Amino acid sequence: MSERNRNTTVIAVGNQKGGVGKTTNTIQLAGALSERGRKSLIIDLDMTSGATKALRAPTEGWISSFELITDAENAEDTIITNDEPEVPLPPGVHLIPSSRKLAELDTFLAQNPWLVHQDLLIQPINRLRGLYDYIFLDTPPQKTKTTIPALKVADHAILSTMPDHLAVSAMAEALSDIVAAQRHANERLTLLGVIVCAVPKPKTRLARELAAYVERTCVDPQGCTLKFRTEISRSVAVQEAQKAGQTILQYQGDHPVADEYRLLAREFEERLALLRQAPPIPLIQEVPHA
Ligand SMILES: Nc1ncnc2c1ncn2[C@@H]1O[C@H](COP(=O)(O)OP(=O)(O)OP(=O)(O)O)[C@@H](O)[C@H]1O
Ligand SMILES: [Mg+2]
Repeated sequence: MSERNRNTTVIAVGNQKGGVGKTTNTIQLAGALSERGRKSLIIDLDMTSGATKALRAPTEGWISSFELITDAENAEDTIITNDEPEVPLPPGVHLIPSSRKLAELDTFLAQNPWLVHQDLLIQPINRLRGLYDYIFLDTPPQKTKTTIPALKVADHAILSTMPDHLAVSAMAEALSDIVAAQRHANERLTLLGVIVCAVPKPKTRLARELAAYVERTCVDPQGCTLKFRTEISRSVAVQEAQKAGQTILQYQGDHPVADEYRLLAREFEERLALLRQAPPIPLIQEVPHA
């Protein structure tokens, strides 16, 4: 394993709603950050293994995020690196796959009454700090046994949303959860931004309304919007790349969506740089109703 000389930022990617681009954005953003020379680790915390499947890694029979969380294996030994011939990961992107064993977390907690559920990821992530620029925690929809420890350990959260009739109410719920996590578990947690993705072109009314809602409601205490300026367009090329087990940047590097992810990666790092200069501040004061 390489040296521990990186300043690791841990990002939880979420939204309680399913199928809103959490996994896709995590993988594509990590791929775009790799073009900028950054090294990322994606930890799949979803029992349904979205990131694991998208990256063509095995969902059974390999050491997984369950062993990481339960400290059953050395944290570094749970990582699939770019050197693994059976799993051709995108350059600069490593993975801790998930497995259905995550369903056994309840039993594990019941058998280990001294362990605190929300703290489960603190030690494992500390063991991985320094190895990566970014550790992305790809969380499942709904508040599950892995979402709560992810929000406890993360430095920042990113929300993902896409135009859909239920997207606005789901966003309000997702924001409430981040506020609750800040209040009860992790006062350092800040919402870094909201990615609006799979935006049809030309933009539908739904897409415009969602973008306006996010722009208006996801703001920091200075009133600056936390919506990422770069929106990701809907394109079959994203799904084709996923089928090929590649990022859109690898699959068709000159595709407009590849450029959007490059812009998003730049904006993501610019925001992080600004936050590093400023003292940490709670980023959402109050969640407006949908
Ligand atoms: N920009 C895009 N253009 C077209 N399709 C997209 C785009 N982004 C995501 N999708 C598709 O939307 C679907 C849902 O995306 P994804 O699996 O990333 O969402 P998710 O929030 O992680 O879902 P889950 O809640 O099930 O984990 C996938 O089929 C994915 O291919
Ligand atoms: Mg997913």
